[in-house]
Amino acid sequence: MFPERDIIKILKRKLSKERFEHTLGVAEVAGDLAKKYGGSWKKARLAGLLHDCAKGLGLDRLIELARMSSFSVDEYEMNLPPLLHAPAGAFLARQEFGVNDQEILEAIRHHTVGSPDLSTTGLIIFVADFIEPNRQFPGVEKLRKEVDKSLIHGVIAACNQSLEYNIKKGRIIHPNTLLLRNECLRRIQ
Ligand SMILES: [Fe+2]
Ligand SMILES: [Fe+2]
Repeated sequence: MFPERDIIKILKRKLSKERFEHTLGVAEVAGDLAKKYGGSWKKARLAGLLHDCAKGLGLDRLIELARMSSFSVDEYEMNLPPLLHAPAGAFLARQEFGVNDQEILEAIRHHTVGSPDLSTTGLIIFVADFIEPNRQFPGVEKLRKEVDKSLIHGVIAACNQSLEYNIKKGRIIHPNTLLLRNECLRRIQ
């Protein structure tokens, strides 16, 4: 696995300026959340740095990489191109960046719509993606406050944000977001 500074150099070349800044923001917030909520700082930072490493690739390439990934890709994802950079990114993280840690790879693979089986690193990346400092959307401050309460409260609020957004836009909802929300609600009851 490459040292972090080499990964950052490669990502700076590969990603747009905005995506690169978002990536650094997610890594930073993920590291802070790991310290606060008992995750691995190193894993959270690496997963944060690499979570969007396949963003910006063309559709054909994304489908090709997603198919090569050891993670299964479901029908929803195959039909919703913006979701494909998650399994494609997990594949690239392993192949191009030499990441073999399953927790990091799973966090990258599930960062878009979540999954009920997420590890602490996976939960951290899922919420960090919503609240990193460059993110601006109505409700982001409320979401940040929920993350301050607890990681699980933060994940529930992030699921709510995603569900409400997709309903408002009339978009298909991936069932994993609902399953993750249910799992988190169960944990705080
Ligand atoms: Fe992403
Ligand atoms: Fe992201």
